Amino acid sequence: MDQIAPNKDIEQRPNSKKVFVKTYGCQMNVYDSQRMTDALSESGYESTDTVDDADLVLINTCHIREKAAEKVYSQLGRLQKMKKARAANGRELMVGVAGCVAQAEGAEIARRAPVVDVIIGPTTYHRLPEAIARARGGERVIETEYAVEDKFEYLPQINREKTLARGVSAFLTVQEGCDKFCTFCVVPYTRGSEVSRPVAQILTEAHRLVEAGVREITLLGQNVNAWHGEGPDGRSWSLGDLLYHLAEIPGIARLRYTTSHPRDMDETLINAHRDLRKLMPYLHLPVQAGSDRILKAMNRRHTAADYMALIDRIRNVRPDIALSGDFITGFPGETDEDFEATMRLVEEVRYAQAFSFKYSARPGTPGAELKDHVPEDVKAERLERLQALLFRQQTEFQQSLVGQTTDVLVEKPGRFADQVVGRSPWLLPVIIDAKDIKIGDIIQARISKTGTNSLHAEIA
Ligand code: 5AD
Ligand code: SF4
Repeated sequence: MDQIAPNKDIEQRPNSKKVFVKTYGCQMNVYDSQRMTDALSESGYESTDTVDDADLVLINTCHIREKAAEKVYSQLGRLQKMKKARAANGRELMVGVAGCVAQAEGAEIARRAPVVDVIIGPTTYHRLPEAIARARGGERVIETEYAVEDKFEYLPQINREKTLARGVSAFLTVQEGCDKFCTFCVVPYTRGSEVSRPVAQILTEAHRLVEAGVREITLLGQNVNAWHGEGPDGRSWSLGDLLYHLAEIPGIARLRYTTSHPRDMDETLINAHRDLRKLMPYLHLPVQAGSDRILKAMNRRHTAADYMALIDRIRNVRPDIALSGDFITGFPGETDEDFEATMRLVEEVRYAQAFSFKYSARPGTPGAELKDHVPEDVKAERLERLQALLFRQQTEFQQSLVGQTTDVLVEKPGRFADQVVGRSPWLLPVIIDAKDIKIGDIIQARISKTGTNSLHAEIA
């Protein structure tokens, strides 16, 4: 569901309290929404996917680009109407705003949207049940101070088996926040500084996920490969060491991690791609731009050549790796020549997949203060050219898979009878027509054709 619109036909009152969570943005938000749902279930809120059933609507917001942030206010406008209509029937509606917009613009939301009862930032989600309880007592709660306590502390407590059965593939947060301060990005401000979750907590959660039937774990972090910790052996561990260790857990069949920064791809992590069959041959490694001048202005602290050398090292140890990236067109000062450098880099890398965006000036970031902002139509034109190239590469990559036999982790029933949907090692979904296939199995399938962002396969 994209928008929250009340359905006037539904008027029955549920017995227990229900929460509807709407999630925008990144995978970290998806994970956080699940955790918030878990936490609220402990205080009697059942989760619903129908907004009309909800007593509490929680919007988990994204602040990364202006467009994403603006969605909040239009949603809140709809909820305002809904709350008024409900009040006329004597039924309550509570509204909460979480996520990065809450963190960055809490006061503004409070001022612009009287409908909101609770505003809570990402570093204080462990206080959510208490915040909701206070709001139910009539208080308007704003929790956007950076928490001084351990922001991971709340995770294990709510991580009960019953809440874990969410499928065979799950996220596991190992790291939060960012200290890189790319000049275009709000994340260091909305999510705070880099924090790594301790090894013991990660292992506990990994084991619980496996017990709950999870076979594939994706380690999550805004800067996941900046993760570091002290291993049980007393040594200082990087993400690579953690992956080697997790690969030893028998129940785990597949490992992934996202999102990475080129500067944190160390030798151990690269070697993990060589040594661990469980580590899937897919890597999201954003570069943002191909011109050294722009990379410098973005404070990426590496050159295009550094990135290319890194790609070579990774492909050397894992030739079949599928590469993905993020790109921004029209960063302040970007000339036609700078943009051509991005196009050349993309030509050289050959991506399997990518995300690309027009630069969006974010208040409070150094990029917004720069001169020479690029006109919107130029940003758009560059984006269009870049996306055409990336789309061509994506199609080529998918075509190259046709005829190959590969492992598929079966995730769910398909849209039609005798059909299942699984995941290829390269993250692309695979649709398989076959009877009696068990969810959670890893089967051998032969890729027969490509669909729109999916593959079709037959049992091999
Ligand atoms: N404008 C456009 N794109 C942005 N991103 C982050 N901040 C901005 C911005 N201000 C993109 C980057 C990042 C991805 C998550 O979003 O490409 O890697
Ligand atoms: Fe943002 Fe850069 Fe940190 Fe990624 S590395 S979250 S783009 S500041």
